[in-house]
Amino acid sequence: MIELAPSILSADFAHLAEQIERAAAGGGTVIHVDVMDGHFVPNITIGAPVVKSLRKATRLPLDCHLMIENADEYITDFAEAGADWISVHQEACPHLNRTLNHIKGNGCRAGVVINPATPVEMLNEVLDIVDHVLVMSVNPGFGGQSFIPGAVHKIRRLAEIRAERGYSFRIEVDGGIAHDTVAEVVRAGAEILVAGSAVFGKGDAKLNAAALLEAARSASLQKV
Ligand code: DX5
Ligand code: ZN
Repeated sequence: MIELAPSILSADFAHLAEQIERAAAGGGTVIHVDVMDGHFVPNITIGAPVVKSLRKATRLPLDCHLMIENADEYITDFAEAGADWISVHQEACPHLNRTLNHIKGNGCRAGVVINPATPVEMLNEVLDIVDHVLVMSVNPGFGGQSFIPGAVHKIRRLAEIRAERGYSFRIEVDGGIAHDTVAEVVRAGAEILVAGSAVFGKGDAKLNAAALLEAARSASLQKV
């Protein structure tokens, strides 16, 4: 099943509740929350207090994408604030197995993220314990960047590995997902589509979300 996860990074932070409601009305079913620390990525965004407020504003799952160092120290805070899914970067977690189990121990779905320069093989030893794998199709840190095509073969490879080894993780993609890129990632096997500027950038979030989801679903019907 294809799901759209609108990323609030491109939303109007003074009106997050209304923006989320619009995106949900257009078919968004997961709210993607980008957490940046100014160390792992060159930008600073939001922390657990904002997640706590979002929790009161929506019943949709909150998908917290941690682009931070020392993730272990903050996971419980995010879980207590109301995160449903928490994903951490392979590149930022030296004890990745421990960190993923820590997320699960806090009652959240655990996801692992790889940057454009990181091969899928780096995840070989954790694919059996993750709930989702997030493939970055831009270098993390900013919304509105151009899609990096190398993500497509990584998505395809993850889908193959999952079938070969009988795993059950879902495949998520993040960065530059818009009308010109969505069909390709869906055909490759992406199931959770993160989109920031394509949903909240210009125009109405409801119409934008609905149009993007429609394009994604028709691409998935053409999948062979
Ligand atoms: C980038 C973030 C993304 C970002 C995507 O570091 O992880 O979630 O919001 O934005 P768009 O869809 O505009 O590329
Ligand atoms: Zn993200």
